[in-house]
Amino acid sequence: MKNLALFMLVFTLFAFTLFAPKKDKLKFSENSSVYNALKQLGLSPVTHEITKIDTQLARYGYEIIHNGQSNLNKKRQSKHFTCRSCHNVVREDDNLSHPTPEDRLKYGLKNDLPFLQGTTLWGIVNRESYYNGDYVKKYGSKVEKANKNLENAIQLCATECAQGRALNKEELNAVLHYLWTLELKFEDLILTKQEKEAIHNQSNNQAIDLIKSKYLQYSPATFVDQMQVRTKKGSPEHGRYIYEKSCMHCHNSSKGVTNFTLDVSSIDLKFLAKNLDTYNKYSIYWITRYGTHPVAGYKPYMPHYTKERLSDQQIEDLAAYISTFN
Ligand code: HEC
Ligand code: HEC
Repeated sequence: MKNLALFMLVFTLFAFTLFAPKKDKLKFSENSSVYNALKQLGLSPVTHEITKIDTQLARYGYEIIHNGQSNLNKKRQSKHFTCRSCHNVVREDDNLSHPTPEDRLKYGLKNDLPFLQGTTLWGIVNRESYYNGDYVKKYGSKVEKANKNLENAIQLCATECAQGRALNKEELNAVLHYLWTLELKFEDLILTKQEKEAIHNQSNNQAIDLIKSKYLQYSPATFVDQMQVRTKKGSPEHGRYIYEKSCMHCHNSSKGVTNFTLDVSSIDLKFLAKNLDTYNKYSIYWITRYGTHPVAGYKPYMPHYTKERLSDQQIEDLAAYISTFN
């Protein structure tokens, strides 16, 4: 009797290991959604989730982000900017898990991208926190509501960064539909064959960790002061790219957003060269780190660059380029 019981126990254990339901294999192709895969592996849905993208809504969202206005509301979101003044909507880093401003510059130079203060909206639906790091110093308690909530982050940017009105409910929804068209796909993570196999074979938690190690879930932000020691030594080629794809993106006299114009003209470049060693807003060392602030009656302002968006060496590169006009 005892033996039979033991036999039954061993048999059941054996049968269990043989026939136990295996975890459902995650199926993914290059074009699969990273977000859906993570959800399938057990992560909870996010509050900004859109399960099915509506093409017409995504179109309105596109128009709001690119042109500042859509058929959902005749009134422009901001009189001064569009979201594109400060944000790209395409990939801007080769390495998504360790982005650096140096690599971003090379990537931007190769792909002819604007080089801006705000992070790209590409992949933003895959991030988990917003206005990170030092942004709490600039926007104070407003960051609390925006830090873990994409919709609030958009509204904070619409009103504070873009100095415009908040989006209405329909517009916000349309913008989310558009932003989901910019979500990360597996091909964006550039996985090796071994990594793909590991995602199939590991436990769900290990697979989640591996996928998440391939891109940053937040955009870090560190505020820094202007440099006191200024060498003006750097790459004039990189400096020229920063001048044309960053400064001129807003200051260009034909399609810029400010009254202070900067073009590839020796007058403008000489002006900046003359001010390199000053400690006021006309020095690139100063203006890049502090920007300007909206004042009553004149709302266009310049967002400053964090260390992650423009490095000290890149400011020296810009100085090296500008110095050639002295
Ligand atoms: C004048 C510049 C400017 C304009 C215009 C602007 N933004 Fe921003 N935005 C920023 C800066 C600077 C940040 C903070 C840096 C960053 O992106 O991490 C930011 C942050 C954000 C964030 C949070 C990003 C993150 O990962 O922390 C979102 C979302 C956002 N903006 C959406 C928008 C949308 C949508 C619009 C248009 C309605 C817009 N922004 C217009 C400059 C701008
Ligand atoms: C996102 C848009 C944007 C970008 C990018 C930008 N600026 Fe500005 N900048 C502004 C706005 C807006 C003002 C406010 C100017 C005004 O219209 O009075 C300003 C002001 C300035 C001023 C002070 C002008 C004054 O009379 O008060 C300087 C100098 C300046 N920017 C230089 C630069 C340089 C150099 C770069 C590139 C490193 C740059 N800006 C990048 C938008 C931008």
